[in-house]
Amino acid sequence: RGAVVSNVRCIGAGYVGGPTSAVMALKCPKVQFTVVDIDSKRIDAWNSDNLPVYEAGLDDIVRARRGVNLIFSTDIDNAILDADIIMIAINTPSMEKDDRLGAAADLRGIKQCIQRIAQVARHYKIIVERSTVPCRTGDIISNILRENCHPGVNFDVLSNPEFLSEGSAIRDLLYPDRVIIGGLDGTEGAQNVLRSIYSRWVPEERIVTMGLWSSELAKLASNAMLAQRVSSINSISAVCEAVGADITEVARGCGLDARIGSQFLQASVGFGGTCFHKDILSLIWLSESLGLRDVAEYWDQVLKMNESQMCRFVRRIMNEVEGSLEGTRIAVLGFAFKSGTGDARNTPATQICNQLLRQGANLFIYDPKVPDEQIRDNLAGELDSRESQLHICHNAYDAIAGSQIIAILTAWKEFQAIDWVKAHSQMIQPAYVFDGHRLLDGLSLERLGFHYASVGTPS
Ligand code: NAD
Ligand code: UGA
Repeated sequence: RGAVVSNVRCIGAGYVGGPTSAVMALKCPKVQFTVVDIDSKRIDAWNSDNLPVYEAGLDDIVRARRGVNLIFSTDIDNAILDADIIMIAINTPSMEKDDRLGAAADLRGIKQCIQRIAQVARHYKIIVERSTVPCRTGDIISNILRENCHPGVNFDVLSNPEFLSEGSAIRDLLYPDRVIIGGLDGTEGAQNVLRSIYSRWVPEERIVTMGLWSSELAKLASNAMLAQRVSSINSISAVCEAVGADITEVARGCGLDARIGSQFLQASVGFGGTCFHKDILSLIWLSESLGLRDVAEYWDQVLKMNESQMCRFVRRIMNEVEGSLEGTRIAVLGFAFKSGTGDARNTPATQICNQLLRQGANLFIYDPKVPDEQIRDNLAGELDSRESQLHICHNAYDAIAGSQIIAILTAWKEFQAIDWVKAHSQMIQPAYVFDGHRLLDGLSLERLGFHYASVGTPS
């Protein structure tokens, strides 16, 4: 069990597995990294010039290390055989949702791959959970390994959750606030081996070791608390709209208190993305299964607030326009769940657009990064009888010209650079802007003749 690491493998070549391995390969040039996946198209893409994940800086790192000490492959068994460390970065989506109980995380992919590791491995390995998993998944992994391994082959199981955000993945990986390494008593040697990888570029005081269950739970709790902050500020945005306060001022007033802090207090149409929603569902499920009903209900309220924020945005459009949206042309600017990414999985735009389609509105959607098919896929359920109401545009002006309403659903900076005089002149009057991210200068727009309404300020 020496501390020399030659071969690190990552199973799962997605948003986490690819960028994480690339950054590690950059910082540990003497270690061989292989990223494997069952999806051969994904692996082909990692081996091409058109990587399956867009993140600023990622292309350069992959180009520099690929074929040197970074390999992308579908040969999972071979990768397992000579591995010292195997990181598991497989997706853990929600199982079917139960309205009261939340939804368990689907661990089938992880269990399958752990089974394979046990069957193939011939010598000691460190298994690292990088996926976000429910508390005590380490037990499940250890049991599968113990029951299926070759005699005399041992494993240590560690938890090393990932905290990167999409759109800033490389920066987050290069300069993490913290790296958490969790393990049970007796795994200190393995924890030190993993620490020796990170300490190549992460300051020692930022690498924190703790118990295995604490580490697993710290990841779920971090995402839950971040989402809770968004729901908290969004709940206050509703109060602002009703009483005439301004949510930016309120957020500033709160955030200047060092105990509260200023980050993650941007009012919006609600949070989206692949993780907040599923991880809170997983926390609710965990709490319910432990008999902690009050805890489950507490976190459920964060999701309810998020739903309510999206509905409120649509209701506001309907109230301001005073009448039916049937046949009204709406320019939807932004569809991604946040700016800086083409990811539209679980984006608030889906729910909002579906509600607008149901009201009979004609949507002209523009997003700088989300592919057309993704937008169509997201809205497919609503489109069966409404295909003619959906139009996808390839620049903002095509969406705006001839519309009466603009709805900003993603905070893309390029929307700030729109020529608003030109936009106003091309719209049906009276022209409305509903700003779901407080991205624009409302006063200037009002001076140009727009009716401007933003989340967190009264009209
Ligand atoms: P992803 O869907 O982008 O990638 C997961 C990959 O795992 C896919 O390519 C899939 O083909 C592969 N896979 C599934 N089953 C497999 C198996 N049995 N063997 C080999 N490969 C298999 O997912 P992701 O976004 O990288 O997320 C991975 C985990 O990391 C999740 O638990 C997620 O919650 C967590 N996480 C994600 C982010 C993020 O920003 N996306 C950030 C932090 C943590
Ligand atoms: C989030 C966490 O920030 C990461 O730490 C975590 O690793 C990751 O989930 C994960 O586990 O997958 P991500 O979902 O990529 O990262 O993006 P965020 O920047 O957290 O934004 C999530 C959503 O919250 C977006 O829809 C964003 O628009 C919204 N948001 C965020 C707000 O509405 N207001 C804010 O102040 C901040």
